[in-house]
Amino acid sequence: MAIGVFDSGVGGLTVHRTLVERLPHANFIYLADQANAPYGGRPGEEVVDLTRAGCIRLFEAGASLVVLACNTASAIALRRLQQTWLPGYRKETGRALNVLGIIVPTIEAATGLPWEHEAERRGDKIEKLDILGVFSTPGTASSRVFEIEIDKRKQDLAVFSEPCPNLARMIEEGAGPVDLAREVETHVENLKRRVGRYPDRAILGCTHYEMVADLFRAALPPGTPLIHQPGATADALALYLERHPELDPGSSGLRRFLTTGTPGRQNGLVQGFWGAPLDFEAA
Ligand code: DGL
Repeated sequence: MAIGVFDSGVGGLTVHRTLVERLPHANFIYLADQANAPYGGRPGEEVVDLTRAGCIRLFEAGASLVVLACNTASAIALRRLQQTWLPGYRKETGRALNVLGIIVPTIEAATGLPWEHEAERRGDKIEKLDILGVFSTPGTASSRVFEIEIDKRKQDLAVFSEPCPNLARMIEEGAGPVDLAREVETHVENLKRRVGRYPDRAILGCTHYEMVADLFRAALPPGTPLIHQPGATADALALYLERHPELDPGSSGLRRFLTTGTPGRQNGLVQGFWGAPLDFEAA
């Protein structure tokens, strides 16, 4: 058995790398749906259908658990798939299977509170003390998942999302550092203009953006804390596996990288992040 890691493209590698470091003996299969990337501007129903197809591919390849290393899929498709498709698919295959997302652990890290925590609803006006900026795809931003779920848990944190419609595609295409820096700066400045000041902390709410985290650090005021999805997801996954021994992740250290797009070597930006040449096989 194995852990499947799914993203529209190479962004999920930022999560995958940390998962592998945390669970070095587990088997991992990564699937990039590059034939259909980017997901961020697609209608919700398409994101649901593509995410379901990705999960099936990973389950068929031997995964018992799929981690959606994609905010767009986690925000738009995860709950639907868990409620309406997964129970029937489990019955059909007779296997113990599950799909997890990355937004729950990110919100736990951003609030410092467990998911089960609910803020006490107070009648009086609540002072919003901190501004949390969320940079994401348009799909994730219009789901308002970060605003809604954080407000339920921590009412003194004001969440402002900044959709970045081109950034995941640029990273997927291996854009150069000057163009990427300009794009990141534009979005940081847009958010500042809308809010009236820079955020006190930020979430890079699209897994692709972790590859250009240094550009976000440079565009934000020095020292602005960034909430890291990879670490938060790895912590949550390790705990989840302890509680669910039936979802055996295997122990031979298998690593496979699949793509629905063109197999072969990924672009220089991705290799720079990964630290070694990275070849994908056809899914
Ligand atoms: N990396 C994905 C995310 O976290 C998807 C980006 C895209 O395909 O638009 O949202």
